[in-house]
Amino acid sequence: MKHLFSVCCSLFITTLLFAQDGHELWLRSSKSQPVNIVCSKKTPTLSVAMDELRRGWQGKSGATITLTITKEKALKYDGFKLSENAVQANNDKGILYGVYELLRRQQTGENITSEVNNPSYETRILNHWDNPDGSVERGYAGHSIFWRKDEAFTVTSQDKKLWQEYARANASVGINGTVLNNVNAAPQILNADYLNRVKVIAEILRPYGMKVYLSVKFSSPALLGKLKTSDPLDPEVIAWWKAKIKEIYSIVPDFGGLLVKASSEGQPGPQDFGRTHADGANMLADALKPYGGIVMWRAFVYSPNDKDRAKQAYNEFMPLDGQFRDNVIIQVKNGPIDFQPREPFSPLFGAMKNTSVMPEFQITQEYLGHATHLVFLAPMWEECLQSDTYQKGEGSTVARCTDGSIYQQNHTAIAGVANIGLDANWCGHHFAQANWYAFGRLAWNVNLKSEQIAEEWLRLTFYNDSSARTGSSDYNASWTNDFLKPVKQMMLDSREAAVNYMTPLGLHHIMSANEHYGPGPWWAPKGMRADWTPPYYHQASVIGIGFDRTTKGSDAVEQYHQPLASQFNDPATCPEKFLLWFHHLPWNYTMKSGRTLWDELCYDYDKGVQQVRSFQKTWDKVQPYVDSTRFTAVQRSLRSQCQNAILWKDACLLYFQQFSRMPIPYALERPV
Ligand code: GCU
Repeated sequence: MKHLFSVCCSLFITTLLFAQDGHELWLRSSKSQPVNIVCSKKTPTLSVAMDELRRGWQGKSGATITLTITKEKALKYDGFKLSENAVQANNDKGILYGVYELLRRQQTGENITSEVNNPSYETRILNHWDNPDGSVERGYAGHSIFWRKDEAFTVTSQDKKLWQEYARANASVGINGTVLNNVNAAPQILNADYLNRVKVIAEILRPYGMKVYLSVKFSSPALLGKLKTSDPLDPEVIAWWKAKIKEIYSIVPDFGGLLVKASSEGQPGPQDFGRTHADGANMLADALKPYGGIVMWRAFVYSPNDKDRAKQAYNEFMPLDGQFRDNVIIQVKNGPIDFQPREPFSPLFGAMKNTSVMPEFQITQEYLGHATHLVFLAPMWEECLQSDTYQKGEGSTVARCTDGSIYQQNHTAIAGVANIGLDANWCGHHFAQANWYAFGRLAWNVNLKSEQIAEEWLRLTFYNDSSARTGSSDYNASWTNDFLKPVKQMMLDSREAAVNYMTPLGLHHIMSANEHYGPGPWWAPKGMRADWTPPYYHQASVIGIGFDRTTKGSDAVEQYHQPLASQFNDPATCPEKFLLWFHHLPWNYTMKSGRTLWDELCYDYDKGVQQVRSFQKTWDKVQPYVDSTRFTAVQRSLRSQCQNAILWKDACLLYFQQFSRMPIPYALERPV
């Protein structure tokens, strides 16, 4: 007979209290009601699920909820079926995700209808660009939560608590994997000391349904194993990796697999030995296969000799389509260049028809104002995921080409480069937390709308529950009208604003060198690799501006399926948001608005600044609804963002004006 047990809320003493206010993220504790839980099994993950129910139950006081593990065909991966007082799933992780969904709906006031809820992707994973010395590449929220320089291998109770809070936050939005170290991988990550720390992290993350993964350096056999080569076809190299992977699994039995940046930006790779990406990836995949591990092999490749960097990944990977093992997934950045404020989707999506492909998004704001600018990224990711590739007819969106709907994929996955650090609010900017949240929600349901995600996050993160309870429906109404509506609109407009004041009309990669924060369209030191300098991308001269990727130029348009190739190729049909991505046009080219290209550029830059000013006003008005710590922090950041937006506008317009030789329209604010 099944062992049934139920526990009452009042007996529960929480051990999961957050360390400090800023650490609460979207899981703000509000007063819960007593609940009885009926559950037929006992696992660490189910214990977490039950703890969460007791901690956050907002339904009927004293209600009974049943958690059942069944075998239901309609359920995929860690999917679940929900009703007001029951969660069903095929495994305990599904129960946990169902519980978080139930609690979220209770808190946001959404309906709880009986429905099957399956994740879009099997693996929903964060990529931490964290180095063993504790620094974080492109991290703007303090040092790594996993690694540190001093006392590197001591695990403190504070570490464990933080990792648990991290796991909980991820699980609450369905993220089920994490790569613990930088893609520019330090070889020592595979040494025993590091692996033992990975073991402890894995133990803490496991009850929350999260697996750990590592990035590896392709030359590890030579660097660590002292072999003469790291050639993927060399028997000694193959044996070295096999032994290393066996060792990893003896330490972390449910290890997820490897992430590899190879033959890219100076990183070693199979091409150093005259081998292909497939040779390299397959060798690692074979070693991982017996344990069920996967290889996420990145397609972020380009070399200084290529005339158009945007074409290279496609050129290198398309000939290898169909040659990868079924536990290899090619990890492709959303755009063909590098996480710009706006790029068209990478032409590899949908084009590789016999290989699993996964999207990689950047949650950390490398090119989007770091942790200073308020930029909600869901609209950018939604734009990419819903782009039609036409690869299998109309409706072959990037989402459907990667989530297994169109192509038979043994594994499906989606990755986000994390924006998390030791900073008290985790992400450096209070609103940057929304991007972590949004990544998880989209990874779970690739068809969610940005507006819904923003609204959920605002309700969970900013709704002042206690005032609402005592303050009646009046508070609800004014909170919705005076806080939720304007702040949600600000979030939804924020990405377009950033595009306007940084890179309007398809401009890209014109950020200041190395840091990628402010403007730097002029930056081109003598001897520097051309493809690392902004003039390579904007091509501004007295003749015009923009990168010619048409059939007469680099012919990057040819990498897109029809009708896109023709649409992009013709300036009359190319969406104006991508105009200067695909075309080099004269300054007096006539835009759809009737303005010249130069004037349009001026108007867009100016609009971006105006938008940030309006965000400042919006925020100032919501002061009564926000605690003073968060209110002041966001207000201060918006002030800096505005100054930076003005700098972007002035710097870019004054720089480009030397080529356009046209006046800035009279109606607009003069550069200072
Ligand atoms: C960008 C970024 C690097 C990073 C690289 C990558 O180029 O600036 O810091 O290593 O992307 O994604 O591998």
